[in-house]
Amino acid sequence: MLTKTAWAIVLGLGVMAYAPISFAAEGSGKANYDKLCASCHAADGKGNPAMTKAFGEKALNIVSKETAAKKDDEMLKVIVDGRGKMPASGKSLSKQEQTQVLQYMRSLAK
Ligand code: HEC
Repeated sequence: MLTKTAWAIVLGLGVMAYAPISFAAEGSGKANYDKLCASCHAADGKGNPAMTKAFGEKALNIVSKETAAKKDDEMLKVIVDGRGKMPASGKSLSKQEQTQVLQYMRSLAK
């Protein structure tokens, strides 16, 4: 028979083992977005006003209907290889992180 304390420990460990997995998925997408993308695209994905002069408002808005309609593969390629004035981020991100950043970016559009 397990005592109440033992059950509390078992439950506590279970929660701790589960939580970091869900945090990590959401967390590294956001962390990498904030680090590598927000300087141009802004935390909300609408484009950093200070950068729109150099790049254009439309180019920096990645939460637009236009961007939402584009395929994940195509957007992933822009993130990895860059395009036009957008720098490539492929070297800074693992495959998994690239997908997480894309997912995080998509979540901003909702
Ligand atoms: C130096 C500024 C800058 C940084 C940093 C930057 N971008 Fe961009 N991004 C741009 C510009 C400028 C464009 C438009 C490119 C073009 O004209 O083809 C763009 C385009 C895009 C597009 C294509 C949108 C579309 O509808 O075709 C996506 C997706 C995107 N960026 C995501 C990201 C993500 C994710 C990051 C971080 C990993 C990032 N960008 C970092 C400047 C930047």
